[in-house]
Amino acid sequence: MAKSRTTHVCSACGAQSTKWQGQCPGCAEWNTLVETVVAAHPSPGSAALAGAGPGAPGSARTVSPLATLAPHAEPRFPTGSGELDRVLGGGLTRASVVLIGGDPGIGKSTLLLQALAAIAADRKALYVTGEESLQQVALRARRLGVEGAPLGMLAETQVEAVLATLAAERPEVAVIDSIQTVWSEALASAPGSVAQVRECAAQFTRHAKAAGCALVMVGHVTKEGALAGPRVLEHMVDSVLYFEGETHSSYRLIRAFKNRFGAVNELGVFAMTERGLRDVANPSAMFLSQHGGDVPGSCVTVTLEGSRPLAVELQALVDEAQGGHPRRLTVGMDNQRLSLLLAVLHRHAGVSCADQDVFLNVVGGVRVAEPSADLPALLAIVSSLRARALPGRLVAFGEVGLAGEIRPVVRGVDRIREAAKLGFTRAIVPVANRPRQPIEGIEIVGVSRVEEALEAARG
Ligand code: TYD
Ligand code: MG
Repeated sequence: MAKSRTTHVCSACGAQSTKWQGQCPGCAEWNTLVETVVAAHPSPGSAALAGAGPGAPGSARTVSPLATLAPHAEPRFPTGSGELDRVLGGGLTRASVVLIGGDPGIGKSTLLLQALAAIAADRKALYVTGEESLQQVALRARRLGVEGAPLGMLAETQVEAVLATLAAERPEVAVIDSIQTVWSEALASAPGSVAQVRECAAQFTRHAKAAGCALVMVGHVTKEGALAGPRVLEHMVDSVLYFEGETHSSYRLIRAFKNRFGAVNELGVFAMTERGLRDVANPSAMFLSQHGGDVPGSCVTVTLEGSRPLAVELQALVDEAQGGHPRRLTVGMDNQRLSLLLAVLHRHAGVSCADQDVFLNVVGGVRVAEPSADLPALLAIVSSLRARALPGRLVAFGEVGLAGEIRPVVRGVDRIREAAKLGFTRAIVPVANRPRQPIEGIEIVGVSRVEEALEAARG
């Protein structure tokens, strides 16, 4: 391996300094100098770019006309979990790097051990553990019922040693658990520091591209989400998946934030059981709360998570404010959106919550970022304010505009079909989303104004 030396680069202005200093000599910012390896060999990664021809530095290269290039889809291989494959865009790809982030304890190691054990049946696979001992992983494997899998295990944290092992063993798939525990001898910074995490990830990425290995790196995110780790790696890797969900509930969601090989915002849904993570192939039923009769303040909606419609329940609680400023609080939805909806409600439907606290919650720890949740949120708020449950098996979706209009959302018909499948008998939807043909088992009410929607929700 080429000899390398390190320098310190300011992350604010890019100034370089040979030794670490608290204050940048260039821009006088504090704590911005980050240790970085200066490679002695030419531009890092250039060897990995397929088709990069030889040539002296600075000499002209051959340009290829786009039309002459034959694209070839990288073959994919399944991970043994349909939900994980869905988020990855159909499985793992050769010569690719996937980063899986999430809070400690959410199930990253569990999922990857399960997946790797399944993959190992067909391909050579290696699990590198830097956090747990081999015995601990073996114990987990037994709990998951995969202890017999022909899976290679390595407990090692020094990146050079891990890379040498990868080069010698040549696994087709490898997991590094976690990127925060590996360290390079080329750097003086502590394992887990930005400099170490970045350098080690860069070395792994180079290996994956050159050796054609599918590499999965685990990264912990703290509650603040800014820890030295996943965030600084997002641009280096091909795909970034994040685990979501509450550790106290059994649901686990995996979302793709970046995917060079497939769609983003696909959602994988899992349930944590005593024998590991299980796919939840029909997640809609899971996010509806289990209360028996209809209760005031609850409205079901259908959101789109990637390609898949998902029914979720919104709950509102509107209660007399106890002095001072009334509170507006959301869980799983944007807080600003709530203020906006309350303003529209007041201005266009004459319903005031000025002296009321308003809380809004999405059941099951899901996050809904879509504007289609506006209308159901509004209906839930009015239902709670009036202490009157919405009638029957009702769903609603639609974006609410500032003029009080209800705007259409994408793939309305798919959403209504999903609702009908789950046994809902009535849907309040934007007029433009009304399907041309009736859908069996569900009555569809098209609305174009907030006032109309409130009227329709009275039953
Ligand atoms: P883990 O995979 O260790 O999390 P991470 O690698 O993201 O830090 O997840 C561990 C949690 O999952 C832990 O709290 C125990 C629980 N668990 C189960 O409920 N069932 C199981 O079969 C396993 C292996 C773990
Ligand atoms: Mg772990």
